[in-house]
Amino acid sequence: MDHPITVDSDACTRCGICIEICPMGIIAQDGPDDLPGLVPGGAAVCSRCGHCEAVCPAGAVSARYPACGPQHLPGGSAAIAPADLAAYLRARRTVRRYREECVDRETVEALLDVVRFAPSGMNGQPVHWLVVHDPAEVRRLAGLAIAWMREASRAGHPMADLFGVLVRTWDAGVDQICRGAPHLVIAHADAKNPMAYTDSIIALTWLEVAAPSFGLGTCWAGFFQMAASASPALAEALGLPEGHAPQYAMALGYPAYRFPRVPGREPVRVTWR
Ligand SMILES: Cc1cc2nc3c(=O)[nH]c(=O)nc-3n(C[C@H](O)[C@H](O)[C@H](O)COP(=O)(O)O)c2cc1C
Ligand code: SF4
Ligand code: SF4
Repeated sequence: MDHPITVDSDACTRCGICIEICPMGIIAQDGPDDLPGLVPGGAAVCSRCGHCEAVCPAGAVSARYPACGPQHLPGGSAAIAPADLAAYLRARRTVRRYREECVDRETVEALLDVVRFAPSGMNGQPVHWLVVHDPAEVRRLAGLAIAWMREASRAGHPMADLFGVLVRTWDAGVDQICRGAPHLVIAHADAKNPMAYTDSIIALTWLEVAAPSFGLGTCWAGFFQMAASASPALAEALGLPEGHAPQYAMALGYPAYRFPRVPGREPVRVTWR
């Protein structure tokens, strides 16, 4: 197996920080003046987290795996006052009414670029995205979800009563599946990856949190997801790569309304030991 990292002997000061920081404990040096490197067998267990490359004060470590290299953090810009962050997070709302205006692809790409930095189990980064950008296609997919609900209700699905309401509302011209959003973002991944669901939820959570900074709103599309994981017609319409499953979906667009207030929440429930 190729070594996932290389260390530049001239640049390395032998400070040992990379050895301390490696979460897998696979970087070592023979003596204090020797160049650090992976221990035998280390390449096989390296999680490709990039901590060694990110931490090295001398910039001596090069990770050889990612398609996109490391990025320098602009000084100070990663700091945010807790009160500012709290205000931002508290202002986030699920958006169920959208303007008709489309979000341009560059903005969606910039949003997804932020989400690339979300954590993932063992740094697997398993999430792929399907962005349904055409509003007419979003409606068509929502219609397929409704078609599945009609059938599922007739077949005695345990959620038949709720599906009945969604179907009747759809027939009356109201989309409660994708909430009339112009776009739908679907996180998909290898169906056999046991971490894919958790990682997809984390990535979508980041997307939801980052969206308002772009002036955008989101809505978790749970009813859509239910249909997408059960309806062969919807699965075919999504056209995901072979072996991939839709992990979760989220409606996206410009919010129609501004929310001047934050609703109450339960108090923090915490046990200290
Ligand atoms: C579901 C999940 C499980 C994780 N489990 C561990 C763990 O058991 N031990 C650990 O050191 N890191 C764990 N991590 C952290 C990941 O390894 C880490 O997110 C990844 O390497 C990317 O690095 P970052 O946190 O710097 O973004 C976990 C992350 C996730 C999302
Ligand atoms: S952190 Fe960088 S400079 Fe320090 S020992 Fe590791 S590679 Fe060398
Ligand atoms: S990429 Fe992560 S796991 Fe691999 S050697 Fe560097 S710090 Fe260790």
